[in-house]
Amino acid sequence: MGFAGRDLISINDFTKEEIEAVLDLADGMNSALEQGKRIELCKGMDMATLFYEPSTRTRGSFERAMHKLGGEVVSFAEAQAISSAAKGETIADTVRVLESYADIIVIRHPLEGAAKVAADYARVPVINAGDGAHEHPTQTLCDLYMIKKEKGRIKGLAVCLWGDLKYGRTVHSLIYALARLGAEVFLWSQMQDLDMPEAVLGKLRSEYDYAPSKVNPDDLKYMMGEADVLYIAPVKPYTYPLWQDSDMGSSVEITAREVLGKTDVIYVTRVQTERMGKPGDIEAEESGSIVTRKLLGKFKKKPLVMHPLPRVNELPSELDKYPKSVYFKQAAYGVPIRMALTALLLGASPIEVPEKDESFVRKTACPKYKKAIGVECPNPKCVSVSAGERRYIAPEFTIVNREPLTLRCVYCEHEIHPPYVATSDWHEGIVENKRYYSSDSFMLERIKPENLIIFGSEKEAQEQGFRRSLYATTRKKVQGGAKR
Ligand code: NCD
Repeated sequence: MGFAGRDLISINDFTKEEIEAVLDLADGMNSALEQGKRIELCKGMDMATLFYEPSTRTRGSFERAMHKLGGEVVSFAEAQAISSAAKGETIADTVRVLESYADIIVIRHPLEGAAKVAADYARVPVINAGDGAHEHPTQTLCDLYMIKKEKGRIKGLAVCLWGDLKYGRTVHSLIYALARLGAEVFLWSQMQDLDMPEAVLGKLRSEYDYAPSKVNPDDLKYMMGEADVLYIAPVKPYTYPLWQDSDMGSSVEITAREVLGKTDVIYVTRVQTERMGKPGDIEAEESGSIVTRKLLGKFKKKPLVMHPLPRVNELPSELDKYPKSVYFKQAAYGVPIRMALTALLLGASPIEVPEKDESFVRKTACPKYKKAIGVECPNPKCVSVSAGERRYIAPEFTIVNREPLTLRCVYCEHEIHPPYVATSDWHEGIVENKRYYSSDSFMLERIKPENLIIFGSEKEAQEQGFRRSLYATTRKKVQGGAKR
């Protein structure tokens, strides 16, 4: 499949082979830039950069990339203040205006799923430059390129993701790519509150058959000098449920000692205080972990030290002279990477990549769920629950599993397990017959997919005129797996 005219919203929009193709083209661009050659592939074309959140590297390198390609840029650096968003304009309207000024739109927005909305409405290609805590796929392309430049490969490398794995969007895109490209991923987050979200782990598990390794929290205390004994767990990994109420293990536990012995790359991230609402989370920042020279010295293989930047105090400046610190170079590669991506999506550098991707394991497409009534995304940062944006978009989910009933929001990709279901038939117009059932009851199997209505709460069901059925409380499985 070619790249021309496509969007890049999630790193998973590209196959493994397409990711490799972007990196290869970027390498060619990088050499040309180093030799001072002119690469005017996009002469006469325009890029709009629409940034509703602060940015130095991402916007700077996109704009530089377009200039280097011979194109021009219409720039909205503080779109929340200077674009018509300040007057209440929706993303859907803004991009439909911008598409007449530009051939490609680069958007950064605090709401998760905002870039998808832009892509759904704009006729020109849209690139996600970061949508809230969801994804940042172009940063991942820079990160992969940096690793390949230094290590020559991705496959088989051990990469330790460190810091705020919950709110940091860079690590969400990066873990998908690393898993799919055959790297081994270690999650090193000191705070339970800042763990990799279950939505990301669930998607890795269900779509890529992948479970990263999470560093044992007791080992972390030891590492940080809060305990005196280092407990060495059995070598055989076992499943570690990240969420207490979840019976599905999503990662595999690993000892700090193993991580220190195997890590080739440590990818450090800043605690994203701007996305934290609760006071408890602020404490997390204060006791946030710091990658010191002393700690780095404990790693056997002298790992590459990467960071998407900006850094605050998680990466002290004493590390700038460490020969394996590559974060400034990583930022510099943003220009050739974004040149390659822009030229590809604009069709200025036509490359066809064979359509095969072994990293994707799901064989059948999931059914969609979109109804005017019923369940909404519970993520308050999701674009689908924003009052303004709701003028154009409605909640929409993929049904990723029927047992237990699991939906994934198509915008922010949060997974939910809605408790109640109903059907739009059976009651033959008689209001008395409108009932709702537990999504765990056998009634779910009886409802035809096209008639399925899903509720997030009893209140939601009752507000729509549905009444409690006998099966609204039956949430237990009978032995042998059958449901009553
Ligand atoms: C990151 C971002 O915006 O998500 N920065 C970047 O684009 N290089 C990381 C961060 O802000 O911490």
